[in-house]
Amino acid sequence: MNAQALDTAATESLLAFWRDAGVDACFEDAPVDRTHVAPPPAVKAVAKATASVVALPATGDAAAEARRLAAGAETLEALGEAIAAFTGCPLRDMGAKQAVFSRGNPRAPILIIGEGPGAEEDERGQPFVGKAGQLLDRMLAEAGLTDRVFITNTVFWRPPGNRTPSPAEQAVCAPFLERAFFLLKPKLVLLLGAAAAKSVLSTEDGIMKLRGHWKEWRLAEGNVSAPALPTFHPAFLLRTPMAKKAAWADMLALAAKLDAAAD
Ligand code: URA
Repeated sequence: MNAQALDTAATESLLAFWRDAGVDACFEDAPVDRTHVAPPPAVKAVAKATASVVALPATGDAAAEARRLAAGAETLEALGEAIAAFTGCPLRDMGAKQAVFSRGNPRAPILIIGEGPGAEEDERGQPFVGKAGQLLDRMLAEAGLTDRVFITNTVFWRPPGNRTPSPAEQAVCAPFLERAFFLLKPKLVLLLGAAAAKSVLSTEDGIMKLRGHWKEWRLAEGNVSAPALPTFHPAFLLRTPMAKKAAWADMLALAAKLDAAAD
């Protein structure tokens, strides 16, 4: 093997190692050696470093801009365009290919909220189109809800490595999610997984405690509210088939409540 072939093989092997370790996006030009452990800094320097870590990058300004853009959207379609034009979410610069807003019926009586787009969603520009989405679609079809849902997420850009979005990233995107809620005015909301449930309901309770219990999601402004049901995320169901029974019970409870609301 010549030297160039060896280099290529070594590079491919290193890339495969990173991919298997969950590193699937590059978002800085220069590599950062995070394995280097600096000697303990002096007390004064610690205070300074803490302040710079705690200060979130212009989240306040970004959220204000998100609120302004969201408020200007009079339809869900316009809201999707406003999200695509928004540059304030840090996830946008972390390797996401495009904004992913919604799919489903824009007059649906049920709003479904997931965590954030994954690799497949990032590629195709629609939420829940990967394996988890296929499971969700099968459950919706079995419950007779296929055309009765509008599906979105708490954040609209794929978090690198499919990590959970941070509360700060969710907060920046929240004005768009709230506007979607306001414009759709759904009868019911289904919250998929802990990240969506905690963010929408502003609670620290875990999904094991929350799932299956109806809560109220009420916007601070605009007099919009709806019963919201936290349930397990379909990606969790794929890893934990034993949890499917409880999630199916939640799906049936959702369908039954919608039927009752129509009476
Ligand atoms: N998981 C989510 O939470 N949302 C998606 O859109 C896809 C997977």
